[in-house]
Amino acid sequence: MEVSMTEVVNVKNTGLRGVTVADTKISFIDGEKGVLIYRGYRIEDLAEHATFMEVAFLLLNGALPGKNELKTFEKQVMEARQLPGYVFDTFKQWPAGSRPMDVLQAAVPLLAMGDPDVNEDTREANFRMAVRLIARMPAAVAAWHRIRQRLEPLPPDASLPHAENFLWQLHGRKPDPEMATDLDVCLTLHADHTFNASTFACREVVSTRAHMYAGVAAGIGALSGSLHGGANAEVMKMLLELESEKDIPAWVKGRLDKGERIMGMGHAVYKTMDPRARFLKDMAYRLGKKTGQSKWHEISTRIEETALNAFAERGKTDIQPNVDYYSAPVYHIMGIHGDLMTPIFAVSRVAGWCSHIIEEKFAEAQEKPALYRPQAEYVGQYCGLVGCEYEPQETRK
Ligand SMILES: CC(C)(COP(=O)(O)OP(=O)(O)OC[C@H]1O[C@@H](n2cnc3c(N)ncnc32)[C@H](O)[C@@H]1OP(=O)(O)O)[C@@H](O)C(=O)NCCC(=O)NCCS
Repeated sequence: MEVSMTEVVNVKNTGLRGVTVADTKISFIDGEKGVLIYRGYRIEDLAEHATFMEVAFLLLNGALPGKNELKTFEKQVMEARQLPGYVFDTFKQWPAGSRPMDVLQAAVPLLAMGDPDVNEDTREANFRMAVRLIARMPAAVAAWHRIRQRLEPLPPDASLPHAENFLWQLHGRKPDPEMATDLDVCLTLHADHTFNASTFACREVVSTRAHMYAGVAAGIGALSGSLHGGANAEVMKMLLELESEKDIPAWVKGRLDKGERIMGMGHAVYKTMDPRARFLKDMAYRLGKKTGQSKWHEISTRIEETALNAFAERGKTDIQPNVDYYSAPVYHIMGIHGDLMTPIFAVSRVAGWCSHIIEEKFAEAQEKPALYRPQAEYVGQYCGLVGCEYEPQETRK
């Protein structure tokens, strides 16, 4: 729809559902069929065959890397893993009870302060900043988790691939390589998702010509909410609460009767099961069996079945598990603390955010960059264009 600058299109108070605000070449969702595509490739295909490094390259560049291109990219990310010393010193000043998402959001401008490219707004400089963010966000999450436990952060291990190195820096022990591969698949599954709230936040911020770090910090803030990435931590709380609950149907009914939501279910775009959730459900089953922790998959599926029946009784058949539902049991089996589940989402989504930031800044899918500037209808106090009469403080009640 072409709209002139003076024409008013009224879509207010709908959370912009169904409103197309930009062109993008990065990802595509068919919400009716449950299909997700990155740069033309089906998510199932990428999760099965590609590494997260390949996917990050694909999102940033629009094509899968050649063998040498991939080696170079992996090396660039690996060499950028080390956090500047002042980041650790700063973290050590912060209250140990701080939420990891707050710490991560605050860490991003800290990283900007040490980035030599932050004042250069070229595509090349933005690509280099993207590489540093992809490399350093996991290091920041791991460092904070160590520091809050009064442990020294661990240096990155150049011999380990991306996900494996993250688990090593987080837990201080070399992970089971198969589990590290599963985490890498999780990173692929979470890497991009069109114009979700956090990606839109990133794009909106950089449309003002703010730098990449400002956009990513905004994205982290948006992701932290429980209706977005924060849902995985809420799902984990629910699984722990229901671990020994005998009457799950009564719990679900009670929640829905009170007008509360079942976290990890429902989606603004998918009207069928999220393809990422299908993948993660199988992973939770396989990992549970392998580690003797099948109960998490069992509880999750019992709640899922009960909730789907309860939704259907209420005439809602389109509320289905989303990516956050089965990522919670998967991360729990991997030994990842509940409050680190959303930061891990960010560690993956940063690849998509940076790709969208570059697309937005350099108008790679549209004619020219445009500053986002929607309107709001004023429904507050109004005394005409002359304004309400100002009453001096002394005479006000
Ligand atoms: C993600 C979410 C906000 C998308 O919602 P949406 O379909 O675009 O629109 P709404 O939020 O208006 O929900 C539509 C209706 O479905 C209900 N609904 C949606 N998700 C629900 C859930 N998980 N549990 C219970 N009811 C739900 C809403 O209460 C609303 O009911 P109403 O019309 O009677 O008021 C929503 O599904 C949700 O809150 N899910 C739980 C949080 C979550 O998992 N977020 C991660 C998303 S990836």
